[in-house]
Amino acid sequence: MTRLEGKTALITGAARGIGRAFAAAYVREGARVIIADIDHARAAQTAAEIDPDKCLPVQMDVTDTASIKAAIASAESHGFAQIDILINNAALFTAAPIVEISEADFDRTFDVNVKGTLFTLQAVAQHMIDRGIKGKIINMASQAGRRGEPLVAVYCATKAAVISLTQSAGLNLITHGINVNAIAPGVVDGEHWDGVDAFFAKYEGKAPGQKKKEVGAAVPYGRMGRAEDLTGMAVFLASDEADYIVAQTYNVDGGQWMS
Ligand SMILES: NC(=O)c1ccc[n+]([C@@H]2O[C@H](COP(=O)([O-])OP(=O)(O)OC[C@H]3O[C@@H](n4cnc5c(N)ncnc54)[C@H](O)[C@@H]3O)[C@@H](O)[C@H]2O)c1
Repeated sequence: MTRLEGKTALITGAARGIGRAFAAAYVREGARVIIADIDHARAAQTAAEIDPDKCLPVQMDVTDTASIKAAIASAESHGFAQIDILINNAALFTAAPIVEISEADFDRTFDVNVKGTLFTLQAVAQHMIDRGIKGKIINMASQAGRRGEPLVAVYCATKAAVISLTQSAGLNLITHGINVNAIAPGVVDGEHWDGVDAFFAKYEGKAPGQKKKEVGAAVPYGRMGRAEDLTGMAVFLASDEADYIVAQTYNVDGGQWMS
């Protein structure tokens, strides 16, 4: 259980949910983890709960390149000087019928999910190139990036963009020995999906919790995913075993999408 021994990972949006599960799994595999989140109080709590000696909480707003650079500099000054692995995990969800989509909501969601992914990837890739690190970068896509949904146009478009960025960055950065790949989860229970459920309660008139039951029943595996269902792929893609994997997006979704 030490496939990431001696490695340091930076995981955005790791204060809760899937990012938190990735941080805990990476620590179990021997890595140290920079828990980068806009919610610093929650990041600090998460770091303390996983392992205060192996986790460093840092405040980072992925929409702000100055904040990304400051967070990396802060990590360096706290002894996390070499970043071997990045998981671009922070994201926002939004939903609305096409005629109700607001410009502000579009901008906010694209800022976090697309601009944040690209410029965090850029900053960490530069860090890796400067130090000659043959690093691993993992972007969090989604089954929502594989096809549109009637009420989820903006979020789906951001995740399609993440798949595309993974392909372009993967092809560019492998020339530096840096692997860029992505994970596309299906429906993963947690606070994120509590919010998704609330959107569907609003737009489809469903009782709270009803949408979750429906999507869970529709998964071929037979239930919604759990954050822990994704950690195996996240560890594998960060390990040396994934050296020859470039620019791919892997579905980890209980059989929902085939590609
Ligand atoms: N939960 C699912 O069903 C599901 C399905 C497919 C893909 N995903 C993707 O997996 C990833 C993690 O999802 P989750 O369910 O854990 O989400 P979540 O909402 O529980 O966690 C997101 C985290 O990102 C942080 N964050 C938000 N804006 C930020 C910003 N500007 N800068 C830094 N941090 C910021 C939040 O504070 C939070 O800790 C996301 O990319 C999501 O799109 C989730």
